[in-house]
Amino acid sequence: MDLEQAIYSRRAVRQYTDEAPAQGTLRKLIDAAIQAPSAINEQPWSFTVVTDRDLLGRISAKTKTHLQRSAPGRIIPQSLHARLEDPQFDIFHRAPALIVISSVTHSRWAVENCALAAENLMLAACAEGLGSCWIGLAQTWLATAAGRKALGVPADHLPVAPIIVGRPAAPPVTVPRKEPRIRWIGP
Ligand SMILES: Cc1cc2nc3c(=O)[nH]c(=O)nc-3n(C[C@H](O)[C@H](O)[C@H](O)COP(=O)(O)O)c2cc1C
Repeated sequence: MDLEQAIYSRRAVRQYTDEAPAQGTLRKLIDAAIQAPSAINEQPWSFTVVTDRDLLGRISAKTKTHLQRSAPGRIIPQSLHARLEDPQFDIFHRAPALIVISSVTHSRWAVENCALAAENLMLAACAEGLGSCWIGLAQTWLATAAGRKALGVPADHLPVAPIIVGRPAAPPVTVPRKEPRIRWIGP
């Protein structure tokens, strides 16, 4: 798959088969992620790969409780509140794998660096015929002491990008793009 095809066909996938991607494939995605640029070439990312279904379920449950307790209106839209109360709702959409990209520094560009690595990872997943989706809902709980402990991430690391990965069970919905707001400055 060429770059343009990957950019235009990558979509947020929320339905997965049970089949977990092979470790070698996940490693390939991480190798693509680390090709991302980083401020002053810090390459400050670390990757936690979770394929343990029980742990994924526990993180989902903890996150839902955390969001319900911590004034969710400020973090998530009203429309999502009911879903958080639904015991069947899995924030990871029952994906077989989660890759969390964390920053090993709290530098000024921690989020930017990890976000660039995340986009590389998602495009590489698409090129491998895999689906992916950034699960922003997971970020607040993963950044707590308990969340970092669940990931085995040291206290001074910052989990930035939780990305689910797996084989799509159905073709993803294409979300239309708004016209870009562009200001051309110059002759
Ligand atoms: C920072 C960020 C957080 C997101 N959080 C969630 C999430 O918690 N759950 C989810 O299902 N999708 C999440 N998404 C996926 C977006 O909803 C999705 O990218 C958007 O609707 C555009 O669709 P597309 O990726 O298919 O183009 C997130 C995406 C980003 C970039």
